[in-house]
Amino acid sequence: MAIKKILLYPDPLLQTKSTRINRFDEDLATLSKDLLDTMYNADGVGLAAPQIGVNKRIFVMDCSKEEKEKDYRIVINPEIEHASEELGSYNEGCLSIPGITEEISRPKVIKVLYQDINGVLQRNTYDNLWSICFQHELDHLNGKLFIDHLRPMKKILVKNKIKKSSKKEKKA
Ligand code: NI
Repeated sequence: MAIKKILLYPDPLLQTKSTRINRFDEDLATLSKDLLDTMYNADGVGLAAPQIGVNKRIFVMDCSKEEKEKDYRIVINPEIEHASEELGSYNEGCLSIPGITEEISRPKVIKVLYQDINGVLQRNTYDNLWSICFQHELDHLNGKLFIDHLRPMKKILVKNKIKKSSKKEKKA
């Protein structure tokens, strides 16, 4: 078990496009375990590899929060095959931008394609929180953060808020 340090915005690794994974080996298994340990420890519903400083196309998610059993997915080389025209909006946050949440609207239902930890191709349809989470984490692999979905003026306001709160954290 290894809990990794979660990088914070504006770390440049969070804004870097991650590379495709071709080897499904022991190192990848370790990376996926580290991601799960770090996500559960931070009480998050999703965590992408760039957030722990690894620019590879893998993320983990578990949106079964209210249920007793853990129900996680390890998602590798994800793609969205189809996104619904219908949008849903949700007050999103990110472990790399602590203390900030913003209403973000995204396609409500998505059909996805990815590889599991053994390299086996998986097809799935996600709705609700699973859909939001999948899209949010996939954005991380493309160097994109949820605040990048905001309108330009709103984004400037939020960025200033982040700057102020990180100054405060440094003092404390
Ligand atoms: Ni995030």
